[in-house]
Amino acid sequence: MVYGQKVFGKIDAHTLLDEYGSPLYVYDESILRQRCREMKNLISYQDFKVSYSAKANTNVELLRIIRDEGLDVDAMSPGEMYLEMKAGFTPDRIMFVGNNVPAEEMQYAIDRGIYISVDSLSQLETLGRIHPGSNVCLRINPGIGAGHHEKVITAGKKTKFGIAIDDLKEARNIARHYNMTITGLNHHIGSLFLEGDEYLAAAEELLGIAATFPTVEMVDFGGGFGIPYRHQVEKRLDLIRLGQQLEALIKEWVAVHRPVQIRIEPGRYIVAESGVLLGRITAIKENYGNHFIGCDIGFNTLIRPVMYDSYHEITVIPAEPRTYKEYQQPAFLAGPICESGDILAHGRPLPVCQEGDAIMIHDTGAYGYAMASNYNSRLLPAEVLISQDRNIRLIRPAQTLEDLWP
Ligand code: LLP
Repeated sequence: MVYGQKVFGKIDAHTLLDEYGSPLYVYDESILRQRCREMKNLISYQDFKVSYSAKANTNVELLRIIRDEGLDVDAMSPGEMYLEMKAGFTPDRIMFVGNNVPAEEMQYAIDRGIYISVDSLSQLETLGRIHPGSNVCLRINPGIGAGHHEKVITAGKKTKFGIAIDDLKEARNIARHYNMTITGLNHHIGSLFLEGDEYLAAAEELLGIAATFPTVEMVDFGGGFGIPYRHQVEKRLDLIRLGQQLEALIKEWVAVHRPVQIRIEPGRYIVAESGVLLGRITAIKENYGNHFIGCDIGFNTLIRPVMYDSYHEITVIPAEPRTYKEYQQPAFLAGPICESGDILAHGRPLPVCQEGDAIMIHDTGAYGYAMASNYNSRLLPAEVLISQDRNIRLIRPAQTLEDLWP
């Protein structure tokens, strides 16, 4: 935790809040581009594509930067496909990874020539009925799951995702029945790993399955690449080591079988660290011996701490210079939502604050704005981008009351 720091070392938080309002999401273009490049350089295998998992953040201006860096995208809904096309992604650079979607959503993708991944026998039937003869990708549930919280483990026996290995025979039958060709296999075992072992094990398993599908031309290992939310304690994911191990796995497989396109689907890794959330302290109080710092950031603006008990580093930026002094006891940082669970940080050592001080919640570029809501009829905040030449640009205005009911 740092006391009084510029946003991305570039601009004063109060200047931004005065100009654009509070709360405010702020993004840094240089970091975003850097993370895109790190993922693109993960392996040197020639037919390798990085498909940004846009659910992490669909701001069209950020999507444009990601497209400019040469990444493709995945989509979970017509809304995401729509925004991606707005950002200039052509349909051949989009994959619709549906889960329990209605036929109309598949039709939206079909009408635009977007490749579809289905993740149940029933969804494969639906696609077969509305688009017989098509190419299709199967999302496999490899029986291995991983993730930072039970709610984000997306493979294994207890999750709703993917086609179980035992059902693959039936999947082949359905595809044959509708004259469909299974040209891709994908999976996503879960979100946020900082050690690559489970990712590698699952990738190996998926390649093993691909060996039994001679028509498969593309294998997608999914996302999940973590970032160190706890700056002092957690180590960065060792991308060099993971890349080498992945590369070895792929090369070995290709030597025995055939060339295949390899894809990965990082969401968080691409955008998380390029975003911070700024807010203002609105109230300070002592409630029966507990110290509460009230601010204008509730779980309507950032839900991760409430939904997954996620930890984000917090910086306090005083309204005017003061000497640093920490509270005698750990503090609770609470938002304005009418629920007792609206707590951003539990029992955290924080500096003595005053009303009007700014706070900066770090690493909120992924699953921040994307998961924000209008709960309590609060308004979605603005988003601004600090460009590479340090210009500041509004990339989405804050909502106004009329947005709640025109
Ligand atoms: N591919 C698929 C099919 C996915 O379901 C996901 C995430 C990703 C890729 C990207 O995963 P990532 O690289 O971002 O870990 N809201 C949660 C994370 C939910 C992730 C859901 N699926 C959070 O804030 O931690």
